[in-house]
Amino acid sequence: AEELRELLLSRIRDVADYPQPGVMFKDITPLLADPDAFRALTGALVEECRRSGATKIVGLEARGFILAAPVAVAAGIGFVPVRKAGKLPGATLSQGYDLEYGTAEIEVHAEDLAEGDRVAVIDDVLATGGTAEAAVELIRRAGAEVAGVSVLMELGFLDGRARLEKVLRGAPLTALLTV
Ligand code: PRP
Ligand code: MG
Repeated sequence: AEELRELLLSRIRDVADYPQPGVMFKDITPLLADPDAFRALTGALVEECRRSGATKIVGLEARGFILAAPVAVAAGIGFVPVRKAGKLPGATLSQGYDLEYGTAEIEVHAEDLAEGDRVAVIDDVLATGGTAEAAVELIRRAGAEVAGVSVLMELGFLDGRARLEKVLRGAPLTALLTV
């Protein structure tokens, strides 16, 4: 586990003052470009989905898609995209959430989730927890159950964990790295 953490950490690049002055951006593109690291990451996330008994994977646009899709294929379960508002053609459920400045909205196709589904949510980063919290609300409103939330990296200083755990009803929040 420590070995995995070191491998993943070594492939994440810190970019200072991006996208705004004072922000340290965690760039995962070197990790994605390294097949061994990407495979190890995918394997760890598949393991968590198995442990939580997930029957569906929800990936959060956009960076969450990159991680969630190979996990769904490897785990042999369906992938459901949660998209930014206005991108899905069918009947959707939508959920707003607050950003540092302003608000945002995410959507899911209502027919993609139903009662009896146990959903694993996958994203790259947990920061304030707003995005993941909105996804949890969407999944429940669709009638499904949240099996757990898994992220590559948790920004510990923002305390998204405390916020998200309040709505998780005991389902696990797993971060492979805390930075
Ligand atoms: C980033 C990141 C997470 C989210 C975490 O996505 O990929 O999804 O922010 O922040 P939070 O915990 O404070 O909600 P972003 O919406 O910036 O865009 P992208 O994934 O489409 O690049
Ligand atoms: Mg994102």
